[in-house]
Amino acid sequence: MVGDGRSYLIVGNWKMHRTVSETVEALLELTQRWKGAEGVKVVICPPFTAILIAAKTVAGSEIRLGAQNLHWAPEGAFTGEVSPVMLQELAVDYVIVGHSERRILFQEDGPAVAKKFAAALENGLLPILCVGENGAEREAGRQGQIVEEQIREVLTPLKEPGKFAIAYEPVWAIGTGKTAEPEDVQRMHGHIRTILGKCGVAAGQVPILYGGSVNASNSASLLSQRDVDGALVGGASLRNDEFLAIAGQAAQLAGRKI
Ligand code: 13P
Repeated sequence: MVGDGRSYLIVGNWKMHRTVSETVEALLELTQRWKGAEGVKVVICPPFTAILIAAKTVAGSEIRLGAQNLHWAPEGAFTGEVSPVMLQELAVDYVIVGHSERRILFQEDGPAVAKKFAAALENGLLPILCVGENGAEREAGRQGQIVEEQIREVLTPLKEPGKFAIAYEPVWAIGTGKTAEPEDVQRMHGHIRTILGKCGVAAGQVPILYGGSVNASNSASLLSQRDVDGALVGGASLRNDEFLAIAGQAAQLAGRKI
């Protein structure tokens, strides 16, 4: 739990979905329907090609923006990459770092994730570090150790990390419809707070989100867990009704200050 009452960060990761025109259509509706709620921040991470128009569309609204990835260098000969400086200019506040799809499909290793995390912080972006075990690691009971390694390799090189968030996204739960049991999620989030404490971070100040097949039917039970401070939503964030229902549940839980 972050702070005194409950506060939530609800992040939609659109992945490689939505063109510029589809982005405008979706965000116009979201900005009209989401008027904000105390204790809830709603963030959308569109693809890079749509961030500029997204920034114009959400200006003055209660929707914030994030990017799905970044390079660590401010500029340079890195064909196809996007730098933190470029994101800053686009009014992006958040950036997802180390998503399992990048680690697995694009061979992003721990040192690369650590450099991206540091670069985001240096450039005033709030990194959302994704961690989580795959199915085989879970079956072997190694999830706690895997998550600890993923967090330590990012935090160890930093003296004072500043503001960041963690998203626990077990790989076997992403896009599969299989959600981790709320009690298992709570146990892992508690473990993550312990790791943060051991790394010298004020663990209570770091929002820990859950991601992996979150939808409007399972979000309330996940968000009501003590150490779940939000959700990183993939597929369900592409349906405004469902995404708003998840944000609405967060607003109810924040209002109850459990
Ligand atoms: P799904 O919600 O589609 O399982 O995706 C989760 C995710 O990867 C969010 O970053």
